[in-house]
Amino acid sequence: MKSIVILISGRGSNMEAIVQRWAAEGWPARVAAVISNRPDAAGLQFAAAHGIATAVVAHKAFATREAFDDALAAAVDGFAPDLVVLAGFMRILGAAFVRRYEGRLLNIHPSLLPMFPGLHTHQRAIDAGCKLAGATVHFVTPQLDHGPIVLQSVVPLLAVDDAHTLAARVLATEHQIYPRAVRWFVEGRLTVAHGVVTHTGGEPQLLASL
Ligand code: GRF
Repeated sequence: MKSIVILISGRGSNMEAIVQRWAAEGWPARVAAVISNRPDAAGLQFAAAHGIATAVVAHKAFATREAFDDALAAAVDGFAPDLVVLAGFMRILGAAFVRRYEGRLLNIHPSLLPMFPGLHTHQRAIDAGCKLAGATVHFVTPQLDHGPIVLQSVVPLLAVDDAHTLAARVLATEHQIYPRAVRWFVEGRLTVAHGVVTHTGGEPQLLASL
């Protein structure tokens, strides 16, 4: 039975989607804890209501990023996770933290990486005149919003879209692909070679909602 720790900063809708699919599908894993860097993260209430341990490591309480990262790692390690899932976790993690969990640290980013790393992805896709948008689940490496790609979703970017309508369309696909990627990981179905992730059972690593 693998152990999963999910890190959030706010709403936590991706965390909810993972918890709901885990509960419905009976993966060989348990969500051991949900940890937030913000005490007021709405997702903490959902987790607690579902009997999942919660913890807060408030970044504001630490003078340096390294001190915060160390405290966060100590909290995470308390749950002995096989997999750490960043789900709307809005702090940049230092290289030491990332290396500690290398190969077992996943993130979801609301763009078709390697396009648009960083913030304001939807507005940037609109401003660039893209006709497609989407989301990416990837293994985390020290370089922000890079790392081997596990699964991507693609949606149309419409002429009438603004950042809010596009974000909503992409978010609906995030809720499908992130639980899928987590399940693949806990089932041991992912291999990484030369920076490329393969699903060993040949399942499609693309969700196209076009
Ligand atoms: C998602 O769009 C995710 O891709 C991005 O931040 C948002 C978090 O939403 N990193 P939620 O907290 O999971 O609802």
